[in-house]
Amino acid sequence: MLKLSSQKPTKIKSELIALPVCENHLLFTDPTVVQIIQEAEKLKEFSGKKDKELLFYHFENLQTQRILLIGLGKYEDINPETLRQFAGKAVKTALKKKLSCADIVVPENQHKNLSTADTIESLLEGAGLANHVYLAYKKDQSKKPLKTIRLLTSASVAKKHHKIVDRVASACRANHLAREWINMPSNDKPPLKFADMISELARKADLKITLLKEKELIDKKFGALLAVAAGSIHRPCVLILEYSPPAAEKCIALVGKGVTFDAGGISLKPAAGMGDMKSDMSGAATVAATLLAAAETAPKTRLIGVLPLVENLPSGSACRPGDIVRSYGGKTIEIANTDAEGRLILADAMEYAVDTFAPDIMIDLATLTGACVVALGEKIAAVFSPDDALRDAIVEAGRHTHERCWPMPLPEDYRKLIKSDIADMRNVGKNRWAGAITAAIFLKSFVGETRWAHIDIAGPAYGKSDSDYISSGASGFGVRLLLNLLERI
Ligand code: BES
Ligand code: ZN
Ligand code: ZN
Repeated sequence: MLKLSSQKPTKIKSELIALPVCENHLLFTDPTVVQIIQEAEKLKEFSGKKDKELLFYHFENLQTQRILLIGLGKYEDINPETLRQFAGKAVKTALKKKLSCADIVVPENQHKNLSTADTIESLLEGAGLANHVYLAYKKDQSKKPLKTIRLLTSASVAKKHHKIVDRVASACRANHLAREWINMPSNDKPPLKFADMISELARKADLKITLLKEKELIDKKFGALLAVAAGSIHRPCVLILEYSPPAAEKCIALVGKGVTFDAGGISLKPAAGMGDMKSDMSGAATVAATLLAAAETAPKTRLIGVLPLVENLPSGSACRPGDIVRSYGGKTIEIANTDAEGRLILADAMEYAVDTFAPDIMIDLATLTGACVVALGEKIAAVFSPDDALRDAIVEAGRHTHERCWPMPLPEDYRKLIKSDIADMRNVGKNRWAGAITAAIFLKSFVGETRWAHIDIAGPAYGKSDSDYISSGASGFGVRLLLNLLERI
């Protein structure tokens, strides 16, 4: 649990107190705290340089078992991300030591580029996000998340900013939830079971739930989605979640790619790394978690989450390269490659969302293309939109939450790459170039006149390397981004 506390670091009983230290500036005036920092600097092994750490086990007259000093680097370089990383490191150290509580000292001196609110928010985020361990399949449960994380600050700051705590805690919970779902192996989350897991929480959160099962998908002519689902014994579905506050002025539809496993279908993927494709439902997990958080934080905008859920496997009943299918809205698509399945299920889901809800804005999130990972790597998502204002708002939200989104072009003249000789379009480009862009242009065919943006999260959704406040595996990328975006549009 995250808390703001006005207890003094020099008085508090603690398992671990983390203290941020700059190499060229004192962040504290409390004489005891200053003395600790000076003692550390005497050791010559610690100077406050970025990411350097020093742990003390004993300090005279203090009640704490441990003091952890962590370098922030140069004072003028501190930004919200520096503080998230600092708080994340503190929590990860406490987790490694199997502690149950940690205390983080908030810098006393006002930083010239950072408001107190931003400082508190960033520290809470770094600490909250770091406090997650994926233990669902481990017998040894000893490396549990910390029970309590306190930010130690003055009584006036604690009083003034207590509302930030609830908002950040809610966003962190949603981020953790998305990570739990994404990390879960595919044998435990086939489409209908995944829909049930989400629905159970959505029901408690008072969201409206609609589940379209296979029969309804056939009746409603979700031809592209059904083709992707044809190879698996697990039946597909589309889950729709609605958050409708009274007197909402805007309606935003969030569509999330939910491929519970992507083997590629008949266009089978190579074996190496295929297991990571359990994460191909990250878009759906992110959208579901965002709606659940919204139900807590109560934004004024109406939100519709549309989650097409399928498994993409090869089999005797799978769709074939060369097959032509008809989308919900009646467009014919030549499936040139069965591994480009995400855009097929999104095509139906987006046409359905426009048709059913006529949203003011539609945003889709998808682990859509390997090409996007080649272009931007594991940490940065691509954002595509014909609407510059919407695209800029997404980039700006990402700058704020450090879920970085880079703007990409949607050149109409590239559309010829997905031209089919016998159908309205093909699902992949004719050559390998611009794979992330041709995928986005394909999606654009299914949004009509709706203001729309596409976020390709194939890189950042799931990763091999730990960062300071997110461990390897699922990152929950996008949950805080969308929550932040709601405050901007
Ligand atoms: N789910 C993959 C994209 C992906 C790749 C996500 C790496 C995360 C990490 C998607 O369905 C896919 O297979 N895309 C193909 C498209 C190609 C056939 C045009 C790809 O990117 O190789
Ligand atoms: Zn694929
Ligand atoms: Zn996929």
